[in-house]
Amino acid sequence: MALINEHFLKLQNSYLFSDIAKKVNSFKVTHPKDKIIRMGIGDVTQPLAPAVITAMHKAVDDMATTENFHGYGPEQGYSFLIDAIIKNDYTSRGVFLEPSEVFVSDGAKSDCGNIGDILRHDNSIGVLDPVYPVYIDSNVMSGRTGVLEDGKWSDVVYIPCTEENNFTPELPSRRVDILYLCYPNNPTGTTLTKDELKKWVNYALANDVLIMYDSAYEAYIQDPNIPHSIYEIKGAKKVAIEFRSFSKTAGFTGVRCGYTVVSKELNGFTLGGERVQLNKLWNRRQTTKFNGTSYVTQRGAEAIYTPEGKEQVKATINYYMTNARIMKEGLQACGLKMYGGENAPYLWVKTPKGLTSWKFFDKLLYEVNIVGTPGVGFGPSGEGYLRLTAFGDRDDTLEAMARLKKWLL
Ligand code: MLT
Repeated sequence: MALINEHFLKLQNSYLFSDIAKKVNSFKVTHPKDKIIRMGIGDVTQPLAPAVITAMHKAVDDMATTENFHGYGPEQGYSFLIDAIIKNDYTSRGVFLEPSEVFVSDGAKSDCGNIGDILRHDNSIGVLDPVYPVYIDSNVMSGRTGVLEDGKWSDVVYIPCTEENNFTPELPSRRVDILYLCYPNNPTGTTLTKDELKKWVNYALANDVLIMYDSAYEAYIQDPNIPHSIYEIKGAKKVAIEFRSFSKTAGFTGVRCGYTVVSKELNGFTLGGERVQLNKLWNRRQTTKFNGTSYVTQRGAEAIYTPEGKEQVKATINYYMTNARIMKEGLQACGLKMYGGENAPYLWVKTPKGLTSWKFFDKLLYEVNIVGTPGVGFGPSGEGYLRLTAFGDRDDTLEAMARLKKWLL
Protein backbone atom coordinates (compact mmCIF):
# COMPACT_ATOMS: atom_id res chain seq x y z
CA MET A 1 0.00 0.00 0.00
CA ALA A 2 1.47 3.33 -1.05
CA LEU A 3 0.88 6.11 1.43
CA ILE A 4 0.47 9.53 -0.14
CA ASN A 5 2.01 12.85 0.73
CA GLU A 6 -1.04 14.12 2.59
CA HIS A 7 0.10 17.73 2.36
CA PHE A 8 -1.23 17.65 -1.22
CA LEU A 9 -4.73 17.22 0.19
CA LYS A 10 -4.46 20.64 1.82
CA LEU A 11 -4.14 22.35 -1.56
CA GLN A 12 -7.05 23.97 -3.29
CA ASN A 13 -8.43 21.73 -6.04
CA SER A 14 -6.59 23.38 -8.88
CA TYR A 15 -3.84 25.85 -9.58
CA LEU A 16 -5.11 29.46 -10.03
CA PHE A 17 -4.50 29.64 -13.77
CA SER A 18 -6.11 26.23 -14.38
CA ASP A 19 -9.20 27.46 -12.53
CA ILE A 20 -9.39 30.53 -14.74
CA ALA A 21 -8.89 28.47 -17.91
CA LYS A 22 -11.83 26.27 -16.87
CA LYS A 23 -14.08 29.30 -16.36
CA VAL A 24 -13.06 30.76 -19.72
CA ASN A 25 -13.65 27.43 -21.48
CA SER A 26 -17.15 27.12 -20.07
CA PHE A 27 -17.86 30.70 -21.19
CA LYS A 28 -16.69 29.77 -24.69
CA VAL A 29 -19.05 26.82 -24.80
CA THR A 30 -22.05 28.97 -23.92
CA HIS A 31 -20.95 32.00 -25.99
CA PRO A 32 -19.23 30.53 -29.05
CA LYS A 33 -19.55 33.70 -31.13
CA ASP A 34 -18.04 36.14 -28.61
CA LYS A 35 -14.41 37.16 -29.18
CA ILE A 36 -12.49 36.84 -25.94
CA ILE A 37 -9.46 39.04 -25.29
CA ARG A 38 -7.00 37.29 -22.98
CA MET A 39 -5.19 39.41 -20.45
CA GLY A 40 -5.12 36.76 -17.75
CA ILE A 41 -2.14 34.41 -17.57
CA GLY A 42 1.14 36.13 -18.38
CA ASP A 43 1.70 34.28 -21.63
CA VAL A 44 3.46 36.03 -24.50
CA THR A 45 1.95 36.42 -27.98
CA GLN A 46 4.78 37.65 -30.20
CA PRO A 47 7.00 35.20 -32.13
CA LEU A 48 10.54 34.31 -31.09
CA ALA A 49 13.30 36.66 -32.25
CA PRO A 50 14.63 35.78 -35.74
CA ALA A 51 18.12 35.32 -34.24
CA VAL A 52 16.70 32.65 -31.91
CA ILE A 53 14.90 30.89 -34.76
CA THR A 54 18.06 30.84 -36.90
CA ALA A 55 20.14 29.47 -34.00
CA MET A 56 17.57 26.78 -33.24
CA HIS A 57 17.40 25.71 -36.92
CA LYS A 58 21.17 25.45 -36.98
CA ALA A 59 21.13 23.42 -33.76
CA VAL A 60 18.59 21.04 -35.29
CA ASP A 61 20.96 20.62 -38.25
CA ASP A 62 23.77 19.85 -35.79
CA MET A 63 21.67 17.00 -34.43
CA ALA A 64 21.49 15.51 -37.93
CA THR A 65 25.23 14.82 -38.15
CA THR A 66 27.37 12.37 -36.25
CA GLU A 67 30.09 14.99 -35.57
CA ASN A 68 27.76 17.61 -34.10
CA PHE A 69 25.10 15.42 -32.53
CA HIS A 70 24.44 16.14 -28.83
CA GLY A 71 23.10 13.51 -26.47
CA TYR A 72 22.82 14.11 -22.73
CA GLY A 73 24.24 17.52 -21.97
CA PRO A 74 25.62 18.76 -18.65
CA GLU A 75 22.74 18.90 -16.14
CA GLN A 76 23.87 22.42 -15.19
CA GLY A 77 23.71 23.72 -18.77
CA TYR A 78 26.21 24.12 -21.62
CA SER A 79 29.11 26.45 -20.99
CA PHE A 80 28.33 28.46 -24.15
CA LEU A 81 25.04 29.58 -22.56
CA ILE A 82 26.36 29.96 -19.01
CA ASP A 83 29.22 32.14 -20.23
CA ALA A 84 26.82 34.35 -22.22
CA ILE A 85 24.54 34.69 -19.17
CA ILE A 86 27.40 35.69 -16.86
CA LYS A 87 28.91 38.17 -19.31
CA ASN A 88 25.67 39.87 -20.36
CA ASP A 89 23.37 39.63 -17.35
CA TYR A 90 25.90 39.97 -14.52
CA THR A 91 29.42 41.17 -15.40
CA SER A 92 27.85 44.09 -17.26
CA ARG A 93 26.21 45.12 -13.95
CA GLY A 94 29.34 44.71 -11.86
CA VAL A 95 28.39 41.27 -10.52
CA PHE A 96 31.00 38.53 -10.78
CA LEU A 97 29.88 34.92 -10.87
CA GLU A 98 31.65 31.62 -11.41
CA PRO A 99 30.18 29.37 -14.12
CA SER A 100 29.41 26.71 -11.50
CA GLU A 101 27.11 29.18 -9.71
CA VAL A 102 24.68 29.25 -12.67
CA PHE A 103 22.24 26.39 -13.30
CA VAL A 104 20.34 26.41 -16.61
CA SER A 105 16.90 24.84 -16.37
CA ASP A 106 13.51 24.58 -18.05
CA GLY A 107 12.29 27.76 -16.38
CA ALA A 108 11.91 29.74 -13.20
CA LYS A 109 8.60 28.16 -12.21
CA SER A 110 10.17 24.69 -11.88
CA ASP A 111 13.19 26.01 -10.01
CA CYS A 112 11.11 28.15 -7.61
CA GLY A 113 9.02 25.07 -6.89
CA ASN A 114 11.88 22.56 -6.69
CA ILE A 115 14.35 24.57 -4.61
CA GLY A 116 12.52 23.48 -1.45
CA ASP A 117 13.95 19.95 -1.99
CA ILE A 118 17.23 21.07 -0.44
CA LEU A 119 15.67 22.71 2.62
CA ARG A 120 14.17 21.19 5.78
CA HIS A 121 10.41 20.89 6.03
CA ASP A 122 10.20 22.99 9.20
CA ASN A 123 11.75 26.24 7.98
CA SER A 124 9.42 29.21 8.41
CA ILE A 125 8.34 30.95 5.24
CA GLY A 126 7.71 34.62 4.52
CA VAL A 127 5.95 35.86 1.38
CA LEU A 128 4.79 39.18 0.09
CA ASP A 129 1.01 39.37 -0.09
CA PRO A 130 -0.21 39.27 -2.90
CA VAL A 131 2.17 36.60 -4.18
CA TYR A 132 2.89 34.32 -7.18
CA PRO A 133 1.04 31.14 -6.08
CA VAL A 134 3.92 28.75 -6.87
CA TYR A 135 5.90 29.92 -3.80
CA ILE A 136 3.00 29.06 -1.50
CA ASP A 137 1.70 25.90 -3.17
CA SER A 138 5.14 24.28 -3.42
CA ASN A 139 5.67 24.90 0.31
CA VAL A 140 2.23 23.47 1.09
CA MET A 141 3.31 20.31 -0.74
CA SER A 142 6.40 20.09 1.50
CA GLY A 143 4.43 20.61 4.70
CA ARG A 144 5.88 24.01 5.57
CA THR A 145 2.71 26.08 5.67
CA GLY A 146 0.44 24.69 8.40
CA VAL A 147 -3.30 24.86 7.77
CA LEU A 148 -5.46 27.23 5.75
CA GLU A 149 -7.55 29.56 7.92
CA ASP A 150 -9.55 32.42 6.38
CA GLY A 151 -7.46 32.40 3.19
CA LYS A 152 -4.11 32.39 5.05
CA TRP A 153 -1.75 29.52 5.88
CA SER A 154 -1.14 29.41 9.61
CA ASP A 155 2.65 28.96 9.40
CA VAL A 156 3.30 31.47 6.61
CA VAL A 157 4.26 35.05 7.42
CA TYR A 158 2.36 37.32 5.03
CA ILE A 159 4.01 40.67 4.36
CA PRO A 160 1.43 43.04 2.88
CA CYS A 161 2.45 44.81 -0.30
CA THR A 162 -0.48 47.10 -0.86
CA GLU A 163 -1.71 50.53 -1.86
CA GLU A 164 -1.63 51.48 1.87
CA ASN A 165 2.15 51.01 2.10
CA ASN A 166 2.72 52.28 -1.42
CA PHE A 167 3.71 48.73 -2.44
CA THR A 168 6.85 49.06 -0.32
CA PRO A 169 6.58 46.17 2.14
CA GLU A 170 7.76 46.45 5.75
CA LEU A 171 10.21 43.97 7.26
CA PRO A 172 8.31 41.05 8.85
CA SER A 173 7.41 41.26 12.51
CA ARG A 174 7.89 37.50 12.99
CA ARG A 175 11.01 35.40 12.38
CA VAL A 176 11.25 33.84 8.93
CA ASP A 177 13.94 31.45 7.70
CA ILE A 178 13.12 31.68 4.01
CA LEU A 179 11.74 34.78 2.32
CA TYR A 180 10.37 34.98 -1.23
CA LEU A 181 10.77 38.28 -3.07
CA CYS A 182 9.72 38.86 -6.68
CA TYR A 183 10.83 42.06 -8.41
CA PRO A 184 9.58 43.51 -10.71
CA ASN A 185 6.63 42.15 -8.83
CA ASN A 186 4.17 39.59 -10.04
CA PRO A 187 1.27 40.36 -9.67
CA THR A 188 1.34 44.08 -8.76
CA GLY A 189 3.82 45.20 -11.45
CA THR A 190 5.60 47.39 -8.87
CA THR A 191 9.35 47.59 -8.21
CA LEU A 192 11.84 48.24 -5.40
CA THR A 193 14.52 50.91 -5.48
CA LYS A 194 18.11 49.96 -4.75
CA ASP A 195 17.81 51.38 -1.22
CA GLU A 196 14.66 49.37 -0.52
CA LEU A 197 16.27 46.18 -1.78
CA LYS A 198 19.32 46.96 0.37
CA LYS A 199 17.00 47.05 3.40
CA TRP A 200 15.97 43.42 2.66
CA VAL A 201 19.51 42.20 2.04
CA ASN A 202 20.73 43.79 5.28
CA TYR A 203 17.82 42.26 7.18
CA ALA A 204 18.68 38.83 5.72
CA LEU A 205 22.37 39.24 6.58
CA ALA A 206 21.57 40.26 10.15
CA ASN A 207 19.02 37.50 10.73
CA ASP A 208 20.35 34.51 8.73
CA VAL A 209 17.41 34.61 6.33
CA LEU A 210 17.59 32.92 2.95
CA ILE A 211 16.06 35.09 0.20
CA MET A 212 14.54 33.46 -2.88
CA TYR A 213 14.72 36.30 -5.37
CA ASP A 214 12.59 35.86 -8.47
CA SER A 215 13.60 38.37 -11.12
CA ALA A 216 11.80 36.78 -14.05
CA TYR A 217 10.59 40.19 -15.21
CA GLU A 218 13.84 42.17 -14.93
CA ALA A 219 14.03 42.72 -18.71
CA TYR A 220 10.97 44.99 -18.42
CA ILE A 221 12.68 47.51 -16.16
CA GLN A 222 12.80 50.91 -17.87
CA ASP A 223 14.08 53.05 -14.99
CA PRO A 224 17.91 52.87 -14.82
CA ASN A 225 17.82 53.28 -11.02
CA ILE A 226 15.96 50.05 -10.38
CA PRO A 227 18.17 47.00 -9.74
CA HIS A 228 17.85 44.05 -12.15
CA SER A 229 19.57 41.56 -9.88
CA ILE A 230 19.66 41.23 -6.09
CA TYR A 231 23.43 40.67 -6.45
CA GLU A 232 23.77 44.35 -7.34
CA ILE A 233 23.40 44.84 -3.57
CA LYS A 234 26.52 44.30 -1.47
CA GLY A 235 26.39 41.12 0.60
CA ALA A 236 23.49 39.58 -1.36
CA LYS A 237 25.58 36.63 -2.52
CA LYS A 238 25.69 35.49 1.10
CA VAL A 239 21.91 35.43 1.46
CA ALA A 240 20.12 35.09 -1.89
CA ILE A 241 19.30 32.61 -4.62
CA GLU A 242 18.18 34.32 -7.84
CA PHE A 243 15.74 32.87 -10.39
CA ARG A 244 15.68 34.09 -13.99
CA SER A 245 13.59 33.12 -16.98
CA PHE A 246 13.76 33.50 -20.75
CA SER A 247 9.96 33.11 -20.87
CA LYS A 248 9.07 36.75 -20.58
CA THR A 249 12.47 38.11 -21.61
CA ALA A 250 12.48 36.38 -24.99
CA GLY A 251 9.14 34.67 -25.53
CA PHE A 252 10.25 31.23 -24.29
CA THR A 253 7.01 30.37 -22.45
CA GLY A 254 6.50 27.45 -24.85
CA VAL A 255 10.19 26.69 -25.47
CA ARG A 256 11.13 26.48 -21.76
CA CYS A 257 14.46 27.81 -20.55
CA GLY A 258 15.60 29.77 -17.52
CA TYR A 259 18.34 29.66 -14.96
CA THR A 260 19.02 29.88 -11.26
CA VAL A 261 22.04 31.37 -9.55
CA VAL A 262 23.14 29.70 -6.33
CA SER A 263 26.19 31.56 -5.13
CA LYS A 264 28.98 29.62 -3.47
CA GLU A 265 29.02 32.15 -0.63
CA LEU A 266 25.54 31.04 0.38
CA ASN A 267 25.23 28.57 3.23
CA GLY A 268 22.48 26.66 4.91
CA PHE A 269 22.80 24.95 8.28
CA THR A 270 22.31 21.49 9.71
CA LEU A 271 20.31 21.22 12.93
CA GLY A 272 23.66 20.86 14.65
CA GLY A 273 24.76 24.24 13.29
CA GLU A 274 27.17 22.98 10.62
CA ARG A 275 27.39 25.25 7.55
CA VAL A 276 26.69 23.64 4.18
CA GLN A 277 27.04 25.26 0.75
CA LEU A 278 23.61 25.37 -0.87
CA ASN A 279 25.32 25.33 -4.28
CA LYS A 280 26.55 21.79 -3.57
CA LEU A 281 23.11 20.59 -2.55
CA TRP A 282 21.36 22.16 -5.56
CA ASN A 283 23.96 20.68 -7.88
CA ARG A 284 23.38 17.27 -6.30
CA ARG A 285 19.63 17.65 -6.62
CA GLN A 286 19.81 18.69 -10.26
CA THR A 287 22.21 15.93 -11.29
CA THR A 288 19.84 13.36 -9.81
CA LYS A 289 16.46 14.73 -10.85
CA PHE A 290 17.12 16.81 -13.98
CA ASN A 291 18.73 15.83 -17.27
CA GLY A 292 19.40 19.30 -18.58
CA THR A 293 17.62 21.65 -20.98
CA SER A 294 17.78 20.53 -24.61
CA TYR A 295 20.76 21.52 -26.75
CA VAL A 296 18.47 23.13 -29.36
CA THR A 297 16.78 25.25 -26.68
CA GLN A 298 20.07 26.37 -25.15
CA ARG A 299 21.44 27.35 -28.56
CA GLY A 300 18.25 29.42 -29.03
CA ALA A 301 18.76 31.07 -25.63
CA GLU A 302 22.40 31.81 -26.42
CA ALA A 303 21.28 33.75 -29.53
CA ILE A 304 19.43 36.25 -27.33
CA TYR A 305 22.84 37.59 -26.32
CA THR A 306 24.15 38.22 -29.86
CA PRO A 307 24.01 41.87 -31.03
CA GLU A 308 21.05 41.18 -33.37
CA GLY A 309 19.35 38.97 -30.77
CA LYS A 310 19.61 41.73 -28.15
CA GLU A 311 18.11 44.27 -30.52
CA GLN A 312 15.24 41.98 -31.55
CA VAL A 313 14.41 41.00 -27.97
CA LYS A 314 14.46 44.65 -26.94
CA ALA A 315 12.05 45.52 -29.76
CA THR A 316 9.56 42.91 -28.51
CA ILE A 317 9.87 44.14 -24.93
CA ASN A 318 9.23 47.68 -26.17
CA TYR A 319 6.17 46.39 -28.01
CA TYR A 320 4.74 44.94 -24.78
CA MET A 321 5.67 48.03 -22.79
CA THR A 322 3.86 50.18 -25.37
CA ASN A 323 0.83 47.94 -24.74
CA ALA A 324 1.29 48.61 -21.03
CA ARG A 325 1.28 52.39 -21.66
CA ILE A 326 -1.85 52.13 -23.84
CA MET A 327 -3.53 50.10 -21.10
CA LYS A 328 -2.48 52.48 -18.35
CA GLU A 329 -3.84 55.48 -20.24
CA GLY A 330 -7.00 53.58 -21.22
CA LEU A 331 -7.72 52.36 -17.68
CA GLN A 332 -7.11 55.78 -16.17
CA ALA A 333 -9.35 57.40 -18.80
CA CYS A 334 -12.09 55.00 -17.63
CA GLY A 335 -11.60 56.30 -14.07
CA LEU A 336 -9.99 53.08 -12.84
CA LYS A 337 -7.21 53.23 -10.30
CA MET A 338 -4.21 51.12 -11.24
CA TYR A 339 -0.58 50.46 -10.33
CA GLY A 340 2.40 48.92 -12.09
CA GLY A 341 2.83 48.76 -15.86
CA GLU A 342 5.84 51.13 -15.88
CA ASN A 343 8.68 48.69 -15.23
CA ALA A 344 6.74 45.47 -15.57
CA PRO A 345 4.26 43.90 -17.98
CA TYR A 346 1.54 43.66 -15.29
CA LEU A 347 -1.11 46.23 -14.35
CA TRP A 348 -2.77 45.94 -10.98
CA VAL A 349 -6.24 47.39 -11.27
CA LYS A 350 -8.47 48.34 -8.35
CA THR A 351 -11.96 46.97 -8.91
CA PRO A 352 -14.64 49.66 -9.33
CA LYS A 353 -17.46 50.18 -6.81
CA GLY A 354 -15.85 47.90 -4.24
CA LEU A 355 -16.52 44.75 -6.30
CA THR A 356 -14.72 41.63 -5.18
CA SER A 357 -11.94 40.37 -7.44
CA TRP A 358 -13.97 37.39 -8.68
CA LYS A 359 -17.13 39.48 -9.23
CA PHE A 360 -15.16 41.93 -11.35
CA PHE A 361 -13.49 39.02 -13.20
CA ASP A 362 -16.94 37.55 -14.03
CA LYS A 363 -18.38 40.89 -15.12
CA LEU A 364 -15.40 41.58 -17.38
CA LEU A 365 -15.66 38.12 -18.92
CA TYR A 366 -19.42 38.08 -19.41
CA GLU A 367 -20.06 41.75 -20.24
CA VAL A 368 -16.98 42.76 -22.28
CA ASN A 369 -15.32 39.38 -22.94
CA ILE A 370 -12.00 40.34 -21.40
CA VAL A 371 -10.08 37.85 -19.22
CA GLY A 372 -8.02 39.12 -16.28
CA THR A 373 -6.70 37.39 -13.17
CA PRO A 374 -8.58 37.99 -9.91
CA GLY A 375 -6.21 39.63 -7.43
CA VAL A 376 -7.44 37.53 -4.52
CA GLY A 377 -6.09 34.45 -6.32
CA PHE A 378 -2.64 35.82 -5.40
CA GLY A 379 -3.42 36.10 -1.69
CA PRO A 380 -5.72 37.89 0.75
CA SER A 381 -4.25 41.36 0.11
CA GLY A 382 -5.12 40.95 -3.56
CA GLU A 383 -8.85 41.12 -2.81
CA GLY A 384 -10.44 44.07 -4.59
CA TYR A 385 -7.88 43.97 -7.44
CA LEU A 386 -7.55 42.38 -10.85
CA ARG A 387 -4.30 41.80 -12.73
CA LEU A 388 -4.10 42.52 -16.45
CA THR A 389 -1.13 41.60 -18.62
CA ALA A 390 0.40 43.65 -21.42
CA PHE A 391 1.48 40.53 -23.36
CA GLY A 392 -1.38 40.71 -25.88
CA ASP A 393 -1.10 41.78 -29.46
CA ARG A 394 -1.56 45.47 -30.23
CA ASP A 395 -4.95 45.25 -31.92
CA ASP A 396 -6.40 43.21 -29.05
CA THR A 397 -4.96 45.65 -26.52
CA LEU A 398 -6.53 48.62 -28.31
CA GLU A 399 -9.82 46.80 -28.68
CA ALA A 400 -9.87 45.84 -24.99
CA MET A 401 -9.42 49.48 -23.98
CA ALA A 402 -12.15 50.58 -26.41
CA ARG A 403 -14.52 47.94 -24.96
CA LEU A 404 -13.75 49.09 -21.42
CA LYS A 405 -14.38 52.74 -22.28
CA LYS A 406 -17.71 51.91 -23.88
CA TRP A 407 -18.65 49.80 -20.88
CA LEU A 408 -17.54 52.08 -18.07
CA LEU A 409 -18.05 55.63 -19.40
C1 MLT B 1 1.62 34.52 -14.49
O1 MLT B 1 0.66 34.76 -15.22
O2 MLT B 1 1.69 34.88 -13.32
C2 MLT B 1 2.73 33.73 -15.09
O3 MLT B 1 2.57 33.58 -16.44
C3 MLT B 1 2.79 32.41 -14.54
C4 MLT B 1 4.12 31.77 -14.78
O4 MLT B 1 5.05 32.36 -15.28
O5 MLT B 1 4.19 30.61 -14.39
